Amino acid sequence: MPATSDPLQTLAERFAAAIARAFPQAADADPLITPCKTPEHGDYQSNAAMGLAKRVGKKPREVAEAILLNIDVGDLAEPLSPANIAGPGFINIRLRPDALAGALREFDTPALGVTPASPAQFMIVDLMGVNLSKQMHVGHLRSPVIGDAIARVLERLGHTIKRQNHVGDWGLPIAMVISRLQRQAASGQINLDHITLDQLDTAYREAQAECQRDMAGLEAARKFGLGPKVLAELEEQVAGATEAFLAARATLIKLQAMDPEAHAIWKKIHDVTMKVCLDVCRTLNVNVTDADSAGESSYAPELAAMVDDLVARGIAQTSDGALVVHLDDPAFGHIKEPCLIRKTDGGYLYATTDVCAIRRRVQKFGAQRLIYAIDARQNLHLRQVFGASIKAGYSLHPRTGQPARMEHAAFGSVLGEDGKPFKTRSGESTKLADLIQETFSRAGQAVKTRNPDLSDAELHDIGAAVGIAALKYADLSTDRVKDYIFSFDRMLAFEGNTGPYLLYALVRIRSIFRKAAERGVGDAWKTTAHATHAPAEKQLALALLRYPGALKSTGESLEPHRLCTYLYELAGAFSVFFDQCPVLAATDEASRDQRLRLCDLAAKVLADGLNVLGIPATDRM
Ligand code: ARG
Repeated sequence: MPATSDPLQTLAERFAAAIARAFPQAADADPLITPCKTPEHGDYQSNAAMGLAKRVGKKPREVAEAILLNIDVGDLAEPLSPANIAGPGFINIRLRPDALAGALREFDTPALGVTPASPAQFMIVDLMGVNLSKQMHVGHLRSPVIGDAIARVLERLGHTIKRQNHVGDWGLPIAMVISRLQRQAASGQINLDHITLDQLDTAYREAQAECQRDMAGLEAARKFGLGPKVLAELEEQVAGATEAFLAARATLIKLQAMDPEAHAIWKKIHDVTMKVCLDVCRTLNVNVTDADSAGESSYAPELAAMVDDLVARGIAQTSDGALVVHLDDPAFGHIKEPCLIRKTDGGYLYATTDVCAIRRRVQKFGAQRLIYAIDARQNLHLRQVFGASIKAGYSLHPRTGQPARMEHAAFGSVLGEDGKPFKTRSGESTKLADLIQETFSRAGQAVKTRNPDLSDAELHDIGAAVGIAALKYADLSTDRVKDYIFSFDRMLAFEGNTGPYLLYALVRIRSIFRKAAERGVGDAWKTTAHATHAPAEKQLALALLRYPGALKSTGESLEPHRLCTYLYELAGAFSVFFDQCPVLAATDEASRDQRLRLCDLAAKVLADGLNVLGIPATDRM
């Protein structure tokens, strides 16, 4: 029994062996098997000869001939001869029809050809990372959507995933808000028992402003000796700010000491923010719950001892009164800017907590791979944190001593159709919850124009499903490091590479089975042998068999758009098949049943793939 139902992988193994026999000095060469671009030439092709030619000092066609002399394709493919060599040295390969049917048979299990990763690994995906007291906007969409899709892909491949929501819930900014809220509550301006995230968001911005106001002006006045009068005026202006700043500092110390009053307000801010955050996750079918929260505050008690450890072992050094980890060394990523882990005033930073998180994730939880679904603008921060953890030995697995693989699954910004940061027409940033509801209702409208008979309740549910598909797929299907343009019209289109198009492809296939049942077609097709006759059947079958490979490459590269592209191609192959090969109207029962089997597999793969992207299916739309 071959280990895989994917002929591409089996061919890759066989070609690798042939290359090793023909050119032992290049035994590690990639056989470069891809689907054939022109079906008339073959089903797959090997592009290895061109690259190998340079390495072994022969002409590409000679290399291809040498590979063919050593290849054993068994009964998988038609025999290969020099006639299969094309152009500069491509080798075209055609599967034997019975081999294709056999591959489909093996593929047609609940696993859909995916062999569980061996060894399976334990991995952590860092996603979401909201900040307490701040309203969620469109910018908060990408991390959970991308992070959750990556986690699902890796789970589907057999790995164990822990999600971590690194909530920004600690430090001076939060103390500033607490301090301001305390004053506002005392003067009766707000009621802490009924506070909303919008109010918290306002308090956050006001707290930032009052703590920072005019400090820079005062400093400049002092520096340039602008005279006592100007200084006195400015000092009076700044007095309030300084007071607010000092109050916030005092609150931070209280908070760190778990002062009950400060902590009670912290808890309120926490609960209000997290409710909105987790509601958004639930609404979008993002698998992140309260249990995944590991906020910055959870690391606070560990920071002092960790920093002591870094100092004691000479990993961290003093620089102008601060503590830094120097990383200007190839072993740590060759980063010019050192990683700052303690400020001159003794305060810890974002980086300190992230180094501590790596230590916990690897040393305590035993993660072998750490994946960060975070904004591309934080790349330097992450590289510094990775570098410092490597230097400190925190990224070494406690049992195996192997370094954990640490990766930044970076993403670009969400832009409006004008190419600028996404805003509403009035220039406000839209609340994420409102944006989601607007997508759902527009999706419901779009469905209604096609199905005027649907009830409001049905439209509501279908609108949500189509809306989730539109929002998530628009985000996932673009190369994630690039910025993407948020456009309701584009993401909700029922044609093209969109979420609704793929959902609709699945709905269409499922409706074939509904019609079959209505027409009294029994279940006999389920035991009909797999076969492909027409070219479109064959192309659909070949596309289906590529599913495990698409999942694997997505899991390896952490690029969900690869799986999206695959599903879009599969839907395309299905659509050609459906145009060219009547299913229920097939001329004979045998072809009908064999086509039903193909339809069934296509539906299974589409549903599985969408689910892996975090997109739930719907039966009608
Ligand atoms: N709260 C952070 C921010 O808003 C994101 C956290 C990302 N995760 C992490 N481990 N740093 O920028």
